[in-house]
Amino acid sequence: MKVLVVGGGGREHALVWKIAQSPSVTEIIAAPGNAGMAGLARLVPVAADDLEGLVALVEEEACDLTVVGPELPLTLGLADMLAERGLPVFGPSRAAAAIEGSKSFAKDLMLRAGIPTAAAEVATDPDRAAGLVRDIGCPVVIKADGLAAGKGVVVAHDEDEALRAIDDAMVHGRYGESGRTVLVEEYLEGEEASILAFTDGKSAGLLVSSQDHKRAFDGDRGPNTGGMGAYAPAPVVTPEVYDVARTHIVERAIEALSRLHGVTYSGVIYAGLMITDEGPKVIEFNCRFGDPEAQVTLPLLDADMVEVMASVARGDLDPGIVRTKAEAAACVVVASGGYPGAYEKGKEIRGLADAEALEGVTVFHAGTAEEGGRVVTSGGRVLGVTAVGADLPVAIARAYEGVRAVTFEGARSRADIGHRALARLNA
Ligand code: AMP
Ligand code: GLY
Repeated sequence: MKVLVVGGGGREHALVWKIAQSPSVTEIIAAPGNAGMAGLARLVPVAADDLEGLVALVEEEACDLTVVGPELPLTLGLADMLAERGLPVFGPSRAAAAIEGSKSFAKDLMLRAGIPTAAAEVATDPDRAAGLVRDIGCPVVIKADGLAAGKGVVVAHDEDEALRAIDDAMVHGRYGESGRTVLVEEYLEGEEASILAFTDGKSAGLLVSSQDHKRAFDGDRGPNTGGMGAYAPAPVVTPEVYDVARTHIVERAIEALSRLHGVTYSGVIYAGLMITDEGPKVIEFNCRFGDPEAQVTLPLLDADMVEVMASVARGDLDPGIVRTKAEAAACVVVASGGYPGAYEKGKEIRGLADAEALEGVTVFHAGTAEEGGRVVTSGGRVLGVTAVGADLPVAIARAYEGVRAVTFEGARSRADIGHRALARLNA
């Protein structure tokens, strides 16, 4: 099988790495891919949001399967364009991707399907939004309705902060059209975790639970980032929570999409959860793998990735083939100095081979480029140093050994990836 992977971040490197282990794969193409994939995939410089270019590439190369990594091409309808031409694709249609592309659509679905989630109301004008803030009380969460590159959510601790967030989104257009409609949502208390599941719209096979670290600095302080690290499994997701996530969240979501909207969800569905005293509640759905959750869940997947993905694409997934290894994984992101603010690019990265030589360690590239035989930084999140081990303490220790092996000017990572899990395991 010839497989195309769309995207070029750490998540897509993990996808390429896992797909490459499948015995049925003859060639992998990545568009646009990144420097870390060289050796596993042929890179073709077509951007992930160039839908026409991607369809042409699939046709020219006669790819047997296209795997779409990022949300943007999915919400723009790449999977629909491929499916219309009879080209097998792993990734939801535009209508199904609305679970991520429109928070008001997702909230309506959850409320109608009885999926546990935070109470919320939609507002299309700022006065109504302000009224909702007063009704709900603070803290309160203001969310831009559409895609905002992970930046459209403000947890407001007092009314002033909430009104400012409403003003920014709805009056000043800070997130463009995405934020002209907002959700005003009840604040949930608890620990967050992620559940990813393969589904063909009829049945679902859950991956191992995971938890990411969105804040820039140790102790979960500082600004939100794309994710500074992750680990799996997440001990906060007990077997009971995992069962609720399967039956009351993932299965209800795909059933309700079909029953209420006539939409078959096909691909991976990502439920971002708050584990509250009343059980897990959905904070958000995403229509793709998490980044960096993919980097820790895929190494623990005990299955032939292409068999799983091709059966999802065909609509005949046997969820029994989605098995999890009884091990743990940790990913520590090494970022450019200054990230998530301004940072410099083009710094030479050394020690990649030394890190990869360590037991259990794989270095997934996120923001790297090749320049005359050297690998240099080209983004904010540069590497996801990932390790698998018998348990979480081993996986985390190995990942940090890997982090110490790689160097570039300004390199920065969090020192406490997995701290919540370690505290739970020690308790
Ligand atoms: P999102 O972009 O939806 O992932 O939200 C970003 C972050 O905001 C989440 O990871 C949570 O930490 C926080 N958040 C979102 N919704 C809520 C909520 N209802 N209650 C508490 N925190 C929330
Ligand atoms: N790690 C969070 C996300 O991928 O949305």
